[in-house]
Amino acid sequence: MWNKAIEDAVAKIQRNIGRFGDRYPHVGNGLKYSLIENDDWTNGFWSGMLWLGYEYSGDGRLRDAARRTVDSFRSRMGQGIVLDHHDIGFLYSLSSKAQWIVEGNTEAKELTLLAADRLMNRWREHAAYFQAWGREGDPVEGGRIIIDCLLNLPLLYWASEKTGNPAYKAAAEIQANKSRRYLVRGDDSSYHTFFFNQETGEPIGGATHQGYTNGSTWTRGQAWGIYGFALSYRYTGDPLFLETSKRMARYFLEHLPEDGVAYWDFNLPQDAVNPYRDSSASAIAAAGLHELLSHLDEAEPGYAYYRRGLIRSMQSLVRHYATIGDSQAEGLLKHGSYHVRGSQAPDEYMIWGDYFYLEALMRLEKGIGGYWYERR
Ligand code: GLY
Repeated sequence: MWNKAIEDAVAKIQRNIGRFGDRYPHVGNGLKYSLIENDDWTNGFWSGMLWLGYEYSGDGRLRDAARRTVDSFRSRMGQGIVLDHHDIGFLYSLSSKAQWIVEGNTEAKELTLLAADRLMNRWREHAAYFQAWGREGDPVEGGRIIIDCLLNLPLLYWASEKTGNPAYKAAAEIQANKSRRYLVRGDDSSYHTFFFNQETGEPIGGATHQGYTNGSTWTRGQAWGIYGFALSYRYTGDPLFLETSKRMARYFLEHLPEDGVAYWDFNLPQDAVNPYRDSSASAIAAAGLHELLSHLDEAEPGYAYYRRGLIRSMQSLVRHYATIGDSQAEGLLKHGSYHVRGSQAPDEYMIWGDYFYLEALMRLEKGIGGYWYERR
């Protein structure tokens, strides 16, 4: 089943190269993708899909297209195009770091280290967190951390490994701990974002950005948490991160609807007027569950539970959400949602949903866990 799904995905990627050219898929527009320049937080996912597709197929056209994206990311870094935010890890882990992992290209490694330095510009030393969005000192955004940032931290852990400079890892570990302490609630649900006093670092309170309401659990945020804490555990060995990933995963799996694919928020009322799914949340959670399982002993009581959750989610995505067999479709997964309350693509393909779906398939079929860490 996984094999057939990957074959279909790779065929779509091959077809898409021609239409996309030097532009980047962002979110869907019917059967097609809306294309953008290399100037958003999402551009790395197409690059990552090209590298994954190349690793699966060995097709030189995919490799050449992937290399071209890295050239584009080099130029983006040189010109500083839309890099004043925390999503540098998404952008450069899946493009230049992927090239370093796949081909051992040292220029790609150097570019990735520049990206880690760029991400460190978001570190607010006196208050000790990574500011997600906005300029330093912005009256609102200056004090905000967000759960999505957990996927940007592997770039920093990796940079410490490569350079021997512990500063990247030290900051990443503080951020992961702060996220655990403030973004994850006592019942293992999560806030999307949390505010601190930017002068003193004192906690203020949680708030949502893309979720249903303040205090609800945005499903994609919960999925970022499952995967992000498992990755922080991989790099630090701190058992609290593993425990947090497990607890968030259990919450996610316990609150799924019958078909095993998440709605966009876990706290939608019964009569919600916008009961959209977010297939991308389930794809991220699936890749995260696979990462989590890689750190557990098969004999552990929870192992079979998380494994069942992973297989159930992936079977449902493949059978009911994937575009397998539809040669008109540019996307891999239908029914993702970007920002429902903000009326942005509430029910379309999401390029990150496609990336994590393919990564989860590659994990299951080939044991390849994307480009968040180097393979030993
Ligand atoms: N990181 C942005 C999002 O998940 O929509």
